[in-house]
Formats: sequence, structure tokens, C-alpha cells
Amino acid sequence: MATALFAMLALLAGCGSDPDPVITDQPADFLDDLPLASVEDLDPDPHVLEVELTAQLAEIEIEPGVKSTVWTYNGSLPGPLLRLTAGDLLRVHFKNELPEATTIHWHGLRIPNDMDGMPGHTQASVEPGETFEYEFVVPDAGTFWYHPHENDAAQLGFGMYGAIVVDPVEPEPADLGDEVVLVLSDISLDESGALAPADQGGDLATVFGREGALVLANGKVAPTIHARNGKRQRWRVVNAARSRYFQLELAGHTFERVGGQAGLLSQSEELEHLVLMPGERAEVLVTPTGQADAQLAVNWIPFDRGYGSTEYRDPIKVLALDLEGAPIPREADVATLGAPIDPIEVEHATHVDIHLTLGEGPDGRPEMGINGAPFGESPPVPAAVGETQVWTITNDMDWDHPFHLHGFFFQAVDREGKVVEPVEWRDTLNVVRKGESSRFVVRYDNRPGSWMFHCHILDHADAGMMGMVELE
Ligand code: C2O
Ligand code: CU
Repeated sequence: MATALFAMLALLAGCGSDPDPVITDQPADFLDDLPLASVEDLDPDPHVLEVELTAQLAEIEIEPGVKSTVWTYNGSLPGPLLRLTAGDLLRVHFKNELPEATTIHWHGLRIPNDMDGMPGHTQASVEPGETFEYEFVVPDAGTFWYHPHENDAAQLGFGMYGAIVVDPVEPEPADLGDEVVLVLSDISLDESGALAPADQGGDLATVFGREGALVLANGKVAPTIHARNGKRQRWRVVNAARSRYFQLELAGHTFERVGGQAGLLSQSEELEHLVLMPGERAEVLVTPTGQADAQLAVNWIPFDRGYGSTEYRDPIKVLALDLEGAPIPREADVATLGAPIDPIEVEHATHVDIHLTLGEGPDGRPEMGINGAPFGESPPVPAAVGETQVWTITNDMDWDHPFHLHGFFFQAVDREGKVVEPVEWRDTLNVVRKGESSRFVVRYDNRPGSWMFHCHILDHADAGMMGMVELE
């Protein structure tokens, strides 16, 4: 009796205003094989999510029968899913129980600078045994994520990441399908199941970017979604890998991309392949359909980002889809999506030109940088609150780089200076290899401070390909 009452109270406390994802008419074990951890909300206010996040080592079975000690938030891989509604307050009591310093960066959230998680710039490192309080309003709906910003490549590669879903205040179209949050990543383990060293492969691996040998979906190798045959699903996909581009293929199917890095698009696009750069998110509608009780596979296929990225590389199964029953009648197309996004006015913008470069450091090791200077030596890009800037990023290397700007959304711009259609809010942009430039337009709102930008191949960021916007 007492336990039942307690359970009911806990349920009431937890329900708040955050809508549960819509799941209708799926098998009872729909997502049983790829659950995401949740975390207790300590504040009864429906517009506050107050949680404890602890960075800690945990024993997790990634390969069958083998226990691996990986780095986690709250002992789960990936860390808990944080779900809020736009305008809600997130309060995080963070504790570091790792053997080294860390911080949390809230990737894609437009929050005050002192909450951005950049050690030495926006906060002090959180040393082992120390705590830090993060507290901010989550302004925008969409799919985001969190990860450390200290020794990034290593810490992400060891398992530190989690997804954030922010629902809009106005309910979304009901027919977007049953929600599946997919956190994609990879990890390298040795024969005993121990984490492989973060610098495996030496300088060559740094220049290419280290990909973990095992591809993971929600922390598992090729987990299974038990799906109603022919029923639409809405996937929120996060690429949390330290360096790997994900290109997904579901044979005989297309992905209808309805959302990008910050919420729904005004117009969807149909894709044969879904590409996600490191750090990137996408929301796609997928209607897995096949013969009665068919099993389908979602495969990673190599994405051509320059020499060595596709040669002799086989597809890797990321997910299985077990279709239950015979296909249901085809569902009607989704009629409406999000609100149109106005292009940013570029006419009076100031211009910022940067090159992504590779050189040699004083120790003879590869040194990546911005305009030939590694992080700390390249002068910050000055910006003023209210200013609009058009950035032209030129890639001097033979491989694509996923460029990421902290704290602000931007829009991609073409060669002629026009905003690329469909207009989309982004924080990460692929900078195509040598010979090409990529452009974006950003307007800075009133959140002054030091804001990082860097390549989200974190081996590159660690090797120096990182800079700073000094917003005043
Ligand atoms: Cu995911 Cu500095 O970012
Ligand atoms: Cu890079």
C-alpha cells in the first residue's frame, strides 16, 4: 500500500508539463532493446527540470558477456535523456567522480556564456571530487545534446554524452509518428573489453580523426526496434561520436527529414541517405515496411569526406528493425510542419574569413589551427551584440571538417551570399575539403562573452582547430 502510494506520488511529481512522446499501436517491446536512461526530476514545478548528473566510471556490457569500464553520466551509456519544454528551466547538480577534470557543454542550446562549459574561459575546470551548478532557461525546441569540453576527444570516445529533447510550447502535428531517440556513437575496446587508449593510431589517426571500432546506437551494438509493420516513426538522431560521420541507409526506404539541428524545418526533404556530421542532429520520419515479420537493417555506410574515408570500408549494421505482422495500410503524408524560418538579412553584414589549416607544431607533431595558428595563438574574432556576420570558411586540408559554433544559431549561405533553402537553424556546418569554402550568416543576440568555435572532429579540436569569438 505504502509503496503503491509512493509510486503514485512519484508519478504525479514527475508528470509536470513535459509531454511524453507519442507512441501508439506499437508492439509492447517497441524500444525495449534500446532504452535511454532517465533521471529523477527533483523539482515539482512542471517548468523546472532539476537533476543530478554525476560523471563516473561504470561497468557496462557492450560486447556480449564482456564487462567494460566506460566513462558515463550517472552510470549509463549514453547518459540520461533530458526532456523539457521550451522556456523551462534546467538545473543540474553536477559532480565529477572521474579520474580527471571535466565540464559539461550543452551543444546547440542558446544559453548564457557562463553556462557554456568551456574550461578556462567560461568556467573553471571541475576537478575530480568537485561539483558545479548549471542553471539556465532552455529557449528553443529541438534535439540537442550534452558532452564534456575538457580532453574532449578522449572523454567522448570513452562514453560521455547524452541527448536533450526540447518540446515546443505549441503541440506539434500529431501525425509525425512514434518517437525514437537515437544517440549514435562509437567506441574502441581491446580484447579484454577495456577502453583502447584515446590516442591510438598516433599522428596519422589524429589527422584523419579517430573512429571507434564498434558502432553504437543508444550504447548498444546493433540493437533491435520491434516495430509495427508500416507504422510511421519519428527518429531524433544525435551523432555523438568523437570523429565519425554517420551516413545511414535503410534499403528500399527513404528518410523524410523534417527537423534539423534546432527543431522542425518549414519544409521537409526526402533523402535516400541520412548524413550526420559529428555533433549534428536530425529529425526524420521513417516508415519501415516489408513482408509480414520481415527483419530490416539500418546500415552505416561510408561517407566520402576525403581520401581514406570510403576505400575498403564495409557497411556496418547500426540497428535492426523487426517488423511485426503484415503491413498496415499506408498512412497519409504529414500535412504541416513547423513555422517558416525567415532568412537573416545579409546586406549590412560584416565579413569574417577564416582558413582551417594543418601545419607542424614545434615538436614536429601535426598542429591544426585557424589561419595557421593553433588554439590559444589565433587572435579571437571580435563581434558586437546585435551585429550580423557572414563567415567564409576555407578548408586548406584534404578532408571535410564539421565546423561548430557555440551559443548561436546560424544559417548556411551560398556563394552568391544568399541563404540556402530550405532555411534551417544550424550550429554545425560541413566545410567541404580543399578548394571549397562554406559560408554562414549569424546574428549575435545579447549574450556577450567568449564563445568557442571548432572542428567537431574532436581529435582536430584537440590538435588546435579551435578558436574564439569575443562578443562584446
Ligand atoms: Cu559539441 Cu564545442 O561542442
Ligand atoms: Cu576537422
